[in-house]
Amino acid sequence: MAVTNQDLKFMSAALGLARRGLGVVAPNPAVGCILVKEGSVVGRGWTHPGGRPHAETVALAAAGDAAVGATAYVTLEPCAHTGKTPPCAQALIDAQVARCVVAIKDPDPRVSGKGVEMLEAAGIDVEVGAMADSAYELNRGFLSKVNQGRPLIALKLASSLDGRIALASGESKWITSGEARQFGHMLRAQYDGILVGSGTLIADDPALDCRVPGLNDRSPTPIILDGSFRITPDHKVARQGAIVFHTKRDTTKEQALEKMGVELVPGATRDLPVVLNKLAERGLTRILVEGGGQVHASFLKAGLADAIEHFQAGLALGGDGRAAIGTLDLASLANAPHFNLKSVRQLGPDMLASYSKAE
Ligand SMILES: NC(=O)c1ccc[n+]([C@@H]2O[C@H](COP(=O)([O-])OP(=O)(O)OC[C@H]3O[C@@H](n4cnc5c(N)ncnc54)[C@H](OP(=O)(O)O)[C@@H]3O)[C@@H](O)[C@H]2O)c1
Repeated sequence: MAVTNQDLKFMSAALGLARRGLGVVAPNPAVGCILVKEGSVVGRGWTHPGGRPHAETVALAAAGDAAVGATAYVTLEPCAHTGKTPPCAQALIDAQVARCVVAIKDPDPRVSGKGVEMLEAAGIDVEVGAMADSAYELNRGFLSKVNQGRPLIALKLASSLDGRIALASGESKWITSGEARQFGHMLRAQYDGILVGSGTLIADDPALDCRVPGLNDRSPTPIILDGSFRITPDHKVARQGAIVFHTKRDTTKEQALEKMGVELVPGATRDLPVVLNKLAERGLTRILVEGGGQVHASFLKAGLADAIEHFQAGLALGGDGRAAIGTLDLASLANAPHFNLKSVRQLGPDMLASYSKAE
């Protein structure tokens, strides 16, 4: 049986459920599952904070005996290995679902087609590929970690009309409106980490948390690139379990910060592939880079920016303001980092343009 319009409708709903897990399920993928019998939803689930229980487990528990003969819509191939929980493919088999519609296969070598094989071997009718593009987009962080050994990187720029993020004096509060900043906080809730350079740390002492009522517990891990080790115990992020990459050493300060729960990672901060690999090893899959201009430029130069969230306010700061993106030293236009516009949203008087890296 091929994928039907009804299948697409339920898969779209399952993707909506999966999205709830973004930012809180790493290192696991955010998955959604819907069980449908005779056209009615009998169970729904999504990956819970911390990555467990899995979406299928939650949906099957909700459906109980109604799962027998149902169609399961799952946004990522059900797992086939026994990890901290039994395999979801086996749970679907035991529950006697009749059909399973899967958006995309899971590239994790422990799964990688084995979940689908298990279901088919048990006589379950399996369809793979329903709303695959949306599922790839949703799982970009998880897929990047598995396939490339690094998290998804999105640069967040909050700039003037002319791409400036501060006056020459450093004054930057506020360029965008309250509506745009509120949306920026909602965006933070969908990421595992927020990264800034030491220039931004010293200039702004940002909290880098999620200040949307009801989402305060979804604040990502603050990450600081701080070669000269300028952070002090008085900085707000020092009280928030930040990860600090630093080159310069200072034993007394290191001990004080570690006592506060800061994770210190000594070594080169300019070698971004190594930095990102270390973040992936710590389980992070989605990172929002919130400045400043030098750090944005470093990610672009290294070809390590996958997406850009550009909040643009309707004011002009002029060429003497600080650029949202520092120098790139481009010799030719053909070498300019290139992004495709994916969506545009009005936020009060401002605009959010979301871009994805051009392949
Ligand atoms: N409007 C906004 O939304 C917004 C957002 C963020 C910042 N800002 C403004 O931007 C200004 C700060 O920007 P900035 O460009 O001066 O500083 P930045 O990009 O925040 O930080 C640059 C510093 O980070 C350190 N660093 C470590 N690893 C790095 C790497 N791989 N690539 C680049 N830098 C690395 C370097 O210091 P070491 O050599 O010591 O390592 C470097 O000097 C402030 O005025 C702030 O208010 C505005």
